[in-house]
Amino acid sequence: MKAMQISQYGKDEKVILTEVKTPAVGAHDILIEVYAASVNPVDYKLRDGALKAVRPKKLPLTLGNDFAGIVTKIGAEVTRFKVGDAVYGAASADRWGSFAEYFVVGEQYAALKPSNLSFTEAASLPLTALTAYQALTEWLDVQPGQKIFIPGGAGGVGVVAIPIAKHLGAYVATTGSPRGRELINSLHPDLFIDYQTTDFSKQLTNYDGVFDTRGGDDLIKAFSILKPKGKIVSIAGIPDKAFAKREELPQAIQLALAINARKVHSLAKKHEVSYHYFMKRADGIQLEKITHLIEKGVIKPIIDKIFTFEETQAALDYVEAGKTKGKVVITVKGHLS
Ligand SMILES: NC(=O)c1ccc[n+]([C@@H]2O[C@H](COP(=O)([O-])OP(=O)(O)OC[C@H]3O[C@@H](n4cnc5c(N)ncnc54)[C@H](OP(=O)(O)O)[C@@H]3O)[C@@H](O)[C@H]2O)c1
Repeated sequence: MKAMQISQYGKDEKVILTEVKTPAVGAHDILIEVYAASVNPVDYKLRDGALKAVRPKKLPLTLGNDFAGIVTKIGAEVTRFKVGDAVYGAASADRWGSFAEYFVVGEQYAALKPSNLSFTEAASLPLTALTAYQALTEWLDVQPGQKIFIPGGAGGVGVVAIPIAKHLGAYVATTGSPRGRELINSLHPDLFIDYQTTDFSKQLTNYDGVFDTRGGDDLIKAFSILKPKGKIVSIAGIPDKAFAKREELPQAIQLALAINARKVHSLAKKHEVSYHYFMKRADGIQLEKITHLIEKGVIKPIIDKIFTFEETQAALDYVEAGKTKGKVVITVKGHLS
């Protein structure tokens, strides 16, 4: 089968269309003929080698985590799916490789494709929707009436996080530029702040929670907008020792991350708030709950651009440029519906 692979880490490394063996199917696995896959920033970060310490991989590596397609083979113990099912999902951290004609995942990481979405639309959602859902429900435990700040409203994560937070009953503030304003407004946040002209930390006070999708200065400034006992959960900021322990990373990495996160933890202490960093958990059962939100119209796919399989490198370059509005999808089998 054909797969889009890197053979070494590096910013200048390009994905190459490579002939590889179709993956073997374990007892609890399903083999998926990939119709569409979406691109996430994690794909170019993996290629750079930036995640080597926390997500070590064997090279050559087929990139891609999100997938939508048809089940073509099932393992002997599989109970949730049958051959011919249309499925979607985001793979677990140890299996990567949806930029390929076939992809094998544990059945616990997939869900039936939402009935109201095409394969292309379905592939755009799992990784970002699981991330947003976990941040808002598991880490921030958003309650009706709470004030939640979600910077980066036009990004792949932002466009699903805003509707989920609104659905949970939160008052939602977000940031974006004039390039994303119309899209963000269509998601009905309560407050839009143009990050190019306005410093959000001068405008927002007494927030219950921050879902940090930006990291950097935005994360540092976010501490000052929280009320005491407020919470920051970050997916783009600074991994800390608690994250390393949960992920069972080696002691040396736990120590390095403890040192790395000293500044954010001392800010958290100063402001009497909490700081957590997490990486999305692949979870097919939780994805079924997300499917329900998709079929009810709470979450809608927002696709900025569609590339063909052969154009995977261009799709990665486009996402890496950092201006994506919603998601970028690669059609592997050329199906648009
Ligand atoms: N830990 C995890 O499990 C996990 C999961 C998913 C994502 N992530 C990380 O989360 C981050 C966001 O992911 P994503 O998929 O949403 O990224 P993305 O789609 O690439 O974000 C692009 C968007 O960010 C906006 N943006 C750029 N600078 C901004 C700023 N200063 N303030 C507000 N918006 C700004 C851009 O809008 P303009 O063009 O208008 O500037 C653009 O629309 C990435 O670092 C990704 O790696 C982590």
